[in-house]
Parts: sequence; structure tokens; C-alpha cells
Amino acid sequence: MKFFIDTANLDQIKEAQALGILDGVTTNPSLMAKEGITGQENILKHYVDICNIVDGDVSAEVISTDFEGMVKEGEALAALHPQIVVKIPMIKDGVKACKYFSEKGIKTNVTLIFSVGQALLAAKAGATYMSPFLGRLDDISTDGLGLIADIRLIYDNYGFDTQILAASVRHTMHVIDCAKIGADVMTGPLSSITGLLKHPLTDSGLAKFLEDYKKGN
Ligand code: E4P
Repeated sequence: MKFFIDTANLDQIKEAQALGILDGVTTNPSLMAKEGITGQENILKHYVDICNIVDGDVSAEVISTDFEGMVKEGEALAALHPQIVVKIPMIKDGVKACKYFSEKGIKTNVTLIFSVGQALLAAKAGATYMSPFLGRLDDISTDGLGLIADIRLIYDNYGFDTQILAASVRHTMHVIDCAKIGADVMTGPLSSITGLLKHPLTDSGLAKFLEDYKKGN
């Protein structure tokens, strides 16, 4: 399973990249705003800065909601850097734009997926990635992991090569459950990745090894 980090914070992206296990980055307009990145010029520069840190795909979301606008914006985003993936909302014009980009060989990530029907449409439109929002479904007492498992089953039934990018991951158990289900990618905060490191027996075991080493030296 690929590990993406879901942030526009350059320090956190650098920290994850330095671990050597990072496969890409996802951003969205809310994450960009959280870092105070505003204005088209700054936003585009920020995407390039991210691409220059990470070895892997970087999702950059369009703001337009009509086909022509999404095409124009998406083409400009894709031209910024070869690592850019154009992130498109799961709406009617988004499906059309996804098909257009897929035929042009531009990578896409169809976002805001909350149902298997939407997942089918994203695959039929040739999306590179599609993002079911696990945490936001869990937030409203709906089975987010169940949705991802259903999508896995359907994509495998028909050999769709669209990658399931489990998004809105909130914690380490989401990461582990997504791996069990067979999601192709997960994107979450830095804490959902570094949290995987933690085990008290590792800490106490290491303390003992170091203590015993000191006794003999
Ligand atoms: C997906 O690509 C989104 O950026 C993201 O995962 C949304 O997560 P949230 O529900 O924690 O905002």
C-alpha cells in the first residue's frame, strides 16, 4: 500500500519524506488555506515546492465546477510539474473532465467519493486515483471501511486499474484496516504514519538492550 500524506504543510511533508516511506501528497483547498497559502500565484508555487520535496504524485485540486473551467485549470496544474495529479470533484462535469484528462494521459484523482456508484463512475471515466472519504463517513455513523471493501470487490470483479486512495484517514487503525482491505493508497495526517512506529515493548526492549550494553562496556 502506498503512503501519501494529506497536508500542504512543507515541514510535515519534509519529515515524512525523510522517513523514506512516503509515496506522495494530497492537498485540498481547505488544507492550502490552513497553511495561509492564498492567491493563484502563491498556490501554484506551493504545489511546485511540494513536488520538489517528495518523490511521488502530488494531488492539486481544481476550483472550477464546470467542464471547461476544470479542463483549463487542470491543464495548467498538470503543466506545472510531471508529478502533479489533477484532483477533480465527483460531480457530473467532473466525470466528463476525468475522461478528458484520462484520454490526454493526464493523471487524475476523483475526490469526494462517498458511494460505490460514484466509485464505479470514477473507474469508468479512467481515473488514476479515486478518493473515498473514510473518516467523514465514520463521522456520520456510516461504515467507511465497508465502502472501501465494496469498491475493492467491484474493481477486482472487472479489473479496473483505478487506484483506491483511502482518504480522510484519521488514525493508525484506519491505516491498518485499509491495508487489510487492500486499498492501493492511503492518505492521512503525519500522525497516522508516525503512530505506526509506536509500541511500548519496542521502547522497553530497546532500553534494556542499551542498559545491558552499558554494563558490559
Ligand atoms: C482527500 O484527499 C482529502 O484531502 C482529505 O483526505 C480529507 O480529509 P478530512 O476529512 O480529514 O478533511
